[in-house]
Amino acid sequence: MEFTAGFPMTRMRRVRQAAWVRGMVAEQGVSAQDLIWPVFVQEGTNTKTPIGSLTGQFRWSIDLLCEEVKKAADLGIPAIAIFPVTPPERKSADGKEATNPDNLMCRATRAVKELGLNLGVVCDVALDPYTTHGHDGLLVDGRIPNDETTEILCQQAVVQAEAGCDIIAPSDMNDGRISEIRVALDEVGFTDVMIMSYAAKYASSFYGPFREAVGSASNLGQGDKKTYQMNPANTNEALREVALDISEGADMVMVKPGMPYLDIVQRVKATFGVPTFAYQVSGEYAMITAAAQNGWLNRESAMLESLLCFKRAGADGVLTYFAVEAAEMLKR
Ligand code: PBG
Repeated sequence: MEFTAGFPMTRMRRVRQAAWVRGMVAEQGVSAQDLIWPVFVQEGTNTKTPIGSLTGQFRWSIDLLCEEVKKAADLGIPAIAIFPVTPPERKSADGKEATNPDNLMCRATRAVKELGLNLGVVCDVALDPYTTHGHDGLLVDGRIPNDETTEILCQQAVVQAEAGCDIIAPSDMNDGRISEIRVALDEVGFTDVMIMSYAAKYASSFYGPFREAVGSASNLGQGDKKTYQMNPANTNEALREVALDISEGADMVMVKPGMPYLDIVQRVKATFGVPTFAYQVSGEYAMITAAAQNGWLNRESAMLESLLCFKRAGADGVLTYFAVEAAEMLKR
């Protein structure tokens, strides 16, 4: 290399000198339409209960949830993902409340869809909010039987679709459940109901606050989900999981957790090129929130940076508890 006009010819910092040019050369951006808001719904009317480990997030009664959802839709958020806080007396070993067409999840879905907003409802398919043992499936002799569980998940998906769910999101990690659910939905005419598969979901420590929020933590106790959720050590296995779910009819796939797993997001998007989502889970939200509360991080900039990093890694969208707050910031 020859230096004719001084050193150096190429100055990477030139395009960083002012906000306008930094914006002009930005490769990625976050907008409200990238954000899906996970929400917790509880029984009752006109009640909202703060969630200790998810400061700023609440368990909403259906009426109040509807008010919040209107604001979210106004901000341009495209969808919410509903999670129910099932009353303990409605939980059982077989989680049959999951298939009750009038359960909290279905009532909340119906109420939100009746608002007639330009907003999708994502319903989680798994039994953990409904079981006394806190597992995502049945528990028989200490094991989670795959095929028997899948049968119930199909019924759960159908009652959710009947309630008006737009996107069924199986988070249970059983084998073959995407094709079984697809067939079950199609058989009763729900050919347009979409499936967003939690395709690469890891047995992670970062779900702690969520389990407190839905009230499944004490049910699960010392138990773990390692016989069905993935080992955090594995990457190639994630690609096989995603390939299977796509071949079984998943319209979109998800990687979960989010930030510690951006390598997986990147590989999934690069390999398959399908709509790819990441879930910035409860523990990730809690970490940023707790650090900010201590004055160790700037909440707003750490939040936006984290969301931008998902986009850079290749995610088309992010499920995040920051959705409303971030959308409000982006609007300013
Ligand atoms: C349940 C489910 C979990 C989450 C979403 N769906 C918890 C789990 O698998 O134990 C976690 C979400 C979060 O931590 O924010 N199948």
